[in-house]
Amino acid sequence: MQIRATDTPQLDWTGDGLAIGLFEGATEVTGDLAQLDQKLAGTIGELITETEFEGKPDSTAVTRVGGQSPIRKIILVGLGKADDLKLDRVRSAGAAIARIAKKEKSKTLGISLPVAKDDPSATAQLITEGILLALHQDNRFKSEPEDKEAKLETVDLLGLGGQTAAITRGEQIASGVILARELVAAPANSLTPIAMAETAEKIAADHGLSVEILEKEDCEKLGMGAFLGVAMASDLPPKFIHLTYKPEGTPKRKLAIIGKGLTFDSGGLNIKGAGSGIETMKIDMGGAAATLGAAKVIGQLKPDVEVHFISAATENMISGHAMHPGDILTASNGKTIEVNNTDAEGRLTLADALVFAEKLEVDAIVDLATLTGACVVALGNSIAGLWSGDEQLASQLKEASELAGEKFWQMPLEEKYFEGMKSQIADMKNTGPRPGGSITAALFLKQFIKETSWAHLDIAGPVWTDKESGCNNQGATGFPVRTLVNWVLSHS
Ligand code: BES
Ligand code: MN
Ligand code: ZN
Repeated sequence: MQIRATDTPQLDWTGDGLAIGLFEGATEVTGDLAQLDQKLAGTIGELITETEFEGKPDSTAVTRVGGQSPIRKIILVGLGKADDLKLDRVRSAGAAIARIAKKEKSKTLGISLPVAKDDPSATAQLITEGILLALHQDNRFKSEPEDKEAKLETVDLLGLGGQTAAITRGEQIASGVILARELVAAPANSLTPIAMAETAEKIAADHGLSVEILEKEDCEKLGMGAFLGVAMASDLPPKFIHLTYKPEGTPKRKLAIIGKGLTFDSGGLNIKGAGSGIETMKIDMGGAAATLGAAKVIGQLKPDVEVHFISAATENMISGHAMHPGDILTASNGKTIEVNNTDAEGRLTLADALVFAEKLEVDAIVDLATLTGACVVALGNSIAGLWSGDEQLASQLKEASELAGEKFWQMPLEEKYFEGMKSQIADMKNTGPRPGGSITAALFLKQFIKETSWAHLDIAGPVWTDKESGCNNQGATGFPVRTLVNWVLSHS
């Protein structure tokens, strides 16, 4: 499928499906639309009247144009209020149109949407992202796909002539989101720590990044007792992944992104019981998946920022080698941790990754993790938690996320709650009381940062969705690749 930018007027475009965006409360057939309607023998006006189309966000209507019309189908998509056309709505509109075109088996599609925020480049990029993300379908594990692929061959973005680079950017971003989705969706018997390391190596080879995989022995030398404690019961070797993107010239900033990479979380000896969702715990490498997805995009966009992509990948399993509840682990910064709950394993792996990242002398560190069920209880499935002691970094991330159409809510780093993590015997426990469980998890991570600007994103809710919405299909979402990419770009 090819997405093209063109200045062909709506009136002259010919093909299978023409999609037109209409604002809420502005569905009168006037101006250019009236001319087109006349050419199509009143089809558009009839469609609006018959379906009572009001232009509400994400509403759609479609009809066949009769006779020998040069356009076979008209697709209407609602954009909501004109004064409130957020860029994210453009992405969702692209997704809605693509879904209809797929259902209608269109081969050639034209899309005519208003330019959002006077920004034709962003408009072209976001329509492209919406189309590609909505059409993504994962048939890797089906012997016979039940859902047929879209028949689309060409998509013309009308009125966006010259925006080829923006389309390419949209394609590159979608490729990273799709990689993250596929990593999250792959089960634990397919996506092992070894497979994660191989994925990182492939990204490095394809896009000119450098990669270093630290084996268990290397991690031992670095004193990564917290990470290795978690890895102990698995029959699979842990892999500490470090991908580096360096721009050609002097980098404007140096950043680190760390993703939690538990390819499966059984809970360990504090095993997850029935009804705990243990069968969904292949998603526990969602942070690492988004980190690798972002690396794939950054490797293509090549901003003048140095970025380190890090993940301590392993499984949390049970065996005779498993850490015991109550064990004391020593992290690579020398701090000791009493593991009062082996199911709070993500923070243990992140502890050593944070120490590693800080040694790289970067300007800022962001970690992202499917860290706590408590965060899902607090914010639900569509919103991630954000913690940072650095308000400037927090605002950068919020701004990046808005453009990305990915939702975050800032949560407090309430120091007082760390009292709940006090250990009689070690420097700290890994688990506090149930109340404020996502906050104590963030406070735990903070112990492994000395002075570098740092933010923590708890993405346990949004990495997966049970129902299609916007550009997300049912299943893995690829959250928050777009936010990470925007955040890196904001430093270039
Ligand atoms: N991977 C889980 C968190 C999680 C829960 C992710 C639901 C996605 C959906 C994490 O390792 C975990 O088990 N957390 C425990 C922490 C508790 C033992 C302090 C939790 O949230 O119950
Ligand atoms: Mn766990
Ligand atoms: Zn986990």
